[in-house]
Amino acid sequence: MRKEFISNISHDIHLLLPPAPFDQEAHILKVGEYNVDRQIRRLIHSYEWKIDLNNLMLSHDILDVEITADGALLDTVWDNLLSNALKYNSTFAEVEIELMEHKNEITVSFKDTGVGMDVAVKQHVFERIYREDTANSQRTRDSGLGLSIVHKVVFLHRGGIDVESNQNDQGSTFTVMLPKR
Ligand SMILES: Nc1ncnc2c1ncn2[C@@H]1O[C@H](COP(=O)(O)OP(=O)(O)OP(=O)(O)O)[C@@H](O)[C@H]1O
Ligand SMILES: [Mg+2]
Repeated sequence: MRKEFISNISHDIHLLLPPAPFDQEAHILKVGEYNVDRQIRRLIHSYEWKIDLNNLMLSHDILDVEITADGALLDTVWDNLLSNALKYNSTFAEVEIELMEHKNEITVSFKDTGVGMDVAVKQHVFERIYREDTANSQRTRDSGLGLSIVHKVVFLHRGGIDVESNQNDQGSTFTVMLPKR
């Protein structure tokens, strides 16, 4: 069932059906203790080559925090948000990652100084296969599925995601909120 779900969110591009109610899908999660800071540090490490290659600056403020969640699925969330922040950015730009702990939830934000998005792009950005038609997006062969998967995984965890962005190279900030338990 879980395998089927992952395969669906990755490949089922003809999915035009309305989303299934939350309760029908929440059992797909394989939850356990998940060390968020460790995973994000690992991820940063795995992107170091790309950061150096593009003369980007990455800074982070990451508190030690463990939550109950599906680690494998959340790893894909951080990976997509960081890869977007690096991809839709320019040389010598900056990316900032912040992991904060609140009373019942955590927030993880990825802030970039990149190309940004206008209102129309922002409105559709969590839909399947939405890609802004820009020189930057044409250069890549990516599927445009990343943020729809991010949205789905966060939704299954009863969390939320918010995006603040302006075009004209003003940058974007994606903030994920997740309950701790
Ligand atoms: N940090 C960002 N800055 C500017 N635009 C962004 C950013 N993140 C996403 N976008 C826009 O949203 C679109 C959708 O992002 P998404 O991650 O779903 O797809 P992708 O990165 O193009 O492909 P994939 O993630 O499947 O490899 C992108 O093509 C881009 O136009
Ligand atoms: Mg992406």
